[in-house]
Amino acid sequence: MTTTTSVAATALDAVSREAMAQRLIRASAQKSFDPEVDVEWAQPPASDLFYMPEHRVSLYGTRIWERMTRQQRIDLSRHEIASTASVGIWFELILLQLLARHIYDLSPTSDHVRYALVEIGDECRHSVMFSRFIEKLGCPAYGPGKAAHALGRFLKTTASGPEVFAAILIAEEILDTLQRELMTDESVQPLVRRISQIHVIEEARHVRYAHDELQRQMAGASPLAREWARWVTARSALVISSRLIHPDAYAAVGLDPLEARRAALSSPIRRDTMRWAASRLVTFFGGLDLLGGPGMVLWRRSGLIG
Ligand SMILES: [Fe+2]
Ligand SMILES: [Fe+2]
Repeated sequence: MTTTTSVAATALDAVSREAMAQRLIRASAQKSFDPEVDVEWAQPPASDLFYMPEHRVSLYGTRIWERMTRQQRIDLSRHEIASTASVGIWFELILLQLLARHIYDLSPTSDHVRYALVEIGDECRHSVMFSRFIEKLGCPAYGPGKAAHALGRFLKTTASGPEVFAAILIAEEILDTLQRELMTDESVQPLVRRISQIHVIEEARHVRYAHDELQRQMAGASPLAREWARWVTARSALVISSRLIHPDAYAAVGLDPLEARRAALSSPIRRDTMRWAASRLVTFFGGLDLLGGPGMVLWRRSGLIG
């Protein structure tokens, strides 16, 4: 009886997984963007606008901020958004490989696999868009730093359980919350708003797919796999949250990079921003039993939870 019930539940689950993928494929066909033609790259930047809402710049409200000129603050917002975009490319390259590994053993004629391929296509276009964006900003591709780059190689090569979609969600949801705010903020450069709008529309589908799959995988995972997922997820949260702004972004506007990084890390305003950006994610992970165990030390260090 139990076997019959669990077979029926598995079949039902497969149907709902396919139905979700079909909806996402249809939505992608109706609204997707090509950054080559859907972004006005030739438009010059407005001379006096920030590149992100002023209160989201990492040093906002600190003593260093008080000493900075308005132009220096605008320039820092430009370098910080370039740094975040370069970390976005780094993570999208990890994500492409995680998704490809996720579908490697699944039926290539399932909608679940077809949607993963659509999502890989989206992420390829996003990385092209972020790459052009960084160039347009006149900033270096800062990247996440050598240590995070190496940890990313480990994650993309070895991750295989619920930690795959959990890591994907950390990057996607934090960026999504920040971009949802800035895409409607008229005090921000139009190019930044357009890029954020495109990313938010396409990422909403990715987040739904990852939520759905992560719930399914956590429900079916062994206690050991859950514990491992909690640890890897906590590690990913710390790495991603601490690498969004490269210290060289501070040096680029004439600040001492170590002093500026310390000031940002200890700023209550910055901490509020990070907790706000992660609040949806943290609530979702809490409901899935993904927060707990030794990894909580890393979560607290990440500044993403109180
Ligand atoms: Fe993306
Ligand atoms: Fe995505």
